[in-house]
Order: sequence, then structure tokens, then C-alpha cells
Amino acid sequence: MKRIAILGSTGSIGESTLKIARHLKDKIEVRAIAAKSNIDKLEQQAREFSPELIAVFDEDKALELQKRLPNHRVVAGMEGLKAVAGLASVNMVVSAMTGTLGLEPTLAAIKAGKDIGLANKEALISGGGLVTALVKEKGVKLLPIDSEHSAIFQCLNGEDRSAIKRLIITASGGPFKNHTKEQLHNISVDQALNHPTWRMGPKITVDSSTLMNKGLEVIEAHWLFGVSLDKIDVVVHPQSIIHSLVEFVDCSMIAQMGEPNMMVPIQYALTYPDRLPGVFQNFDFIKNGTLQFFAPDFDRFRCLKLAYDAAKKGGTLPGYMNAANEVLVHRFLDKQISWSDISHKLENLMQRHSVQRVSSFEDVIANDKVARKEAALA
Ligand SMILES: NC(=O)c1ccc[n+]([C@@H]2O[C@H](COP(=O)([O-])OP(=O)(O)OC[C@H]3O[C@@H](n4cnc5c(N)ncnc54)[C@H](OP(=O)(O)O)[C@@H]3O)[C@@H](O)[C@H]2O)c1
Repeated sequence: MKRIAILGSTGSIGESTLKIARHLKDKIEVRAIAAKSNIDKLEQQAREFSPELIAVFDEDKALELQKRLPNHRVVAGMEGLKAVAGLASVNMVVSAMTGTLGLEPTLAAIKAGKDIGLANKEALISGGGLVTALVKEKGVKLLPIDSEHSAIFQCLNGEDRSAIKRLIITASGGPFKNHTKEQLHNISVDQALNHPTWRMGPKITVDSSTLMNKGLEVIEAHWLFGVSLDKIDVVVHPQSIIHSLVEFVDCSMIAQMGEPNMMVPIQYALTYPDRLPGVFQNFDFIKNGTLQFFAPDFDRFRCLKLAYDAAKKGGTLPGYMNAANEVLVHRFLDKQISWSDISHKLENLMQRHSVQRVSSFEDVIANDKVARKEAALA
């Protein structure tokens, strides 16, 4: 039996995880849930799944939820998230909060010896070295939930890692893949939130439109699979049917394919190493008769280039870029800056950043704070 805790249970990944738990109710038990402030959804989830522990980051909302659910245990703040992550009865934590704030409870879960289903890529961008070292020390499994990384993980099943020639991460290209540079100056929030193939939370949807999401995924792949950056390529594949590929030294390629729906990678992480019946009908190859591939445009989609640059320089730069990007994306969503300002401001900020080594959690947090302050004023 998988007994899971979900950090971010009210979000897009969190809700899909609960759908899998409903679908596989004999195999998966939801022991704990956590969110930031959406207590209406948490209340519904608690009434359906009867978790042992519920965490609400926002303290006032936590008190309100406790009043609504007197027979449940509700905890608050970062300590509450860490309590969910370390709950004794749980053996797997789905890390599906948005943002770098997910790093601390994810580290707490690993320290407590839990296997991790990782959706929260920002945690790995800012604290990749810390996460992977702790995973090794504690001997827990770090199972990717991001569809591209789940694809690569599945392609590498039983393969000798030293035989990898390169990882090829596919990108839908987002809603603006055919826009000219001029058109990219007039992007509305609604247009950026209208992703052609994936339904996701707002932050990652905007990141997909700038291709920052793909950049973050390149860094994520580097940490997850220990592959150097010069062996990680991105190819635009608008249909999002091939979720990613591995090319081996003998020039053979293995690709993982399927519907562009997060239910598949989430279920794989939850049932790993087993495969259990999924929720979709047979894939229709005739309806999906065309698969296209294009080179990404690093000039129109500057964020992808910035992410490669940050990863190559290393140290504090990837974490700085990630936190600054998070702030800039929220400023765009709040209509304070334009879509193209996200990459322009980010590039200026990154050029001014003096790169330092990252050797502790405190370094990560200090760097994150600086980036957020500077990006808020940029
Ligand atoms: N959606 C996808 O298809 C997809 C695919 C691959 C990877 N990911 C990654 O998965 C993560 C979640 O994405 P999403 O699309 O599911 O986001 P989302 O729909 O915006 O949901 C975010 C979740 O995180 C919670 N949260 C945010 N801040 C929190 C805090 N301070 N304390 C506790 N909970 C907090 C939210 O709670 P409230 O509802 O209370 O605000 C919500 O449950 C991101 O890192 C994203 O990059 C997503």
C-alpha cells in the first residue's frame, strides 16, 4: 500500500494525484494533504479522503479550517508543511507545491526517509545539489512527475547510464511558437494562460509560454539523471505526444509516448516499479497521424537561453534566476509588466548577479531572498 502525503493537494498536480488515488483506491491511501490557503477545496478533500493531517500555510485560514473540521488535525505554516512531509504513517510524499518554498518541506520529507514524487521543479533548480545528496544519503527514491522527466526515467529503465549519448526533451513550443518578435511585444495575460496542449497552474503555464519551463526542465534533468548539460537537447514537438527521448551511444533512440495528460506520469510515480491499469482508452495513432519536430528559437525565447547559461555557470545563478523569474511571472500576471519584460528584466538581473558557491540550505534561502527583492524592484 502506498500511503501518501500531497504538498499542494489543491493544485493541478495535486488534484490529478487525488484522481489517481480514487482510481487506485485499493493501492493508494491519502494520509495527509497541504495547500497554501484554498480551504474550501481542502475541506472537500478532507471530507472525501479523511486524512490524518492537514496543513494550511496561511495561519488564519488554518484556524478557520480547524473550526470547520473539528474532528481533523489541522496544522499551519512551514512547520505544518514539514509535519505533513514527515508524517510517520506516510511512505511517499508528492511534492506538488508551486515555487521554491517547496524545497524546505521536500528536504524534510527526504530527511524523514520518504520516497518523493517530484513535480515541484523549482525545488530542484534552487537546491538540486542539496536534494540529490540527501536522497543518496537517505537511500530514498526520487521519482519524477514532470512528464518529460518521467519519460526519460521510463526510457532509462534497465539501461546502462554510461551508454547515454544525449537526452532529448520535447517542448510543445507554447502558444506563441509562431509569433514574430514584434507580435511578442503585445501578449495579454489571457493569451499566455491559454496553453495549446497542457492544462496546468498559472505560473507553469506562463513559464511554458516563455520557454522558461523548458529551461527549468533542462536543469531538472541534469540533477535527476546526472547527465551533463552539453548532452541535454530541447526539440519543439507541438503535438506533445512524445514526452521525451533518450539517444544511446549505439544511435538507438527510446521515446516515451502517450496522451498529453499528467495522470500518466503521476500514476507511474505512485505505482513504481509496477504498472497498473490506467484511465485512458487505447491511443489513436490515426487521429494523431502527424508528429512534427522543430529547433527551439533561442532568440525569440530568450528565457531558454538564460536557463542554459545559468546552469552552465552554476553556483547561485540557477536559483537566482528561478526566484527572480517567479517574481517577474507574478508581476506579469498582476499586469505590472509586459510578457517580453519577463525575459528582458531577467537577463539584466542575471548579468548583474555575482555568482557564489551554494553549500547549504541557508545559502539557497539567502540567494532566493536577494533575487526576489531585486526582481520586485527591476
Ligand atoms: N500542472 C502541471 O501539469 C505540471 C507539470 C509538471 C510539473 N509541474 C510542477 O508542479 C508544481 C505545481 O504545479 P501546478 O500546476 O499543480 O500548480 P497550481 O495548480 O498553481 O497549484 C499550486 C499548489 O501549490 C499550493 N501552494 C502554493 N504555495 C504554497 C505554500 N506556500 N504552502 C503550501 N502550499 C502552497 C497551492 O495551494 P492553494 O491552492 O491553497 O494556493 C496549490 O495546491 C509546480 O512546481 C510545477 O512546475 C506542474
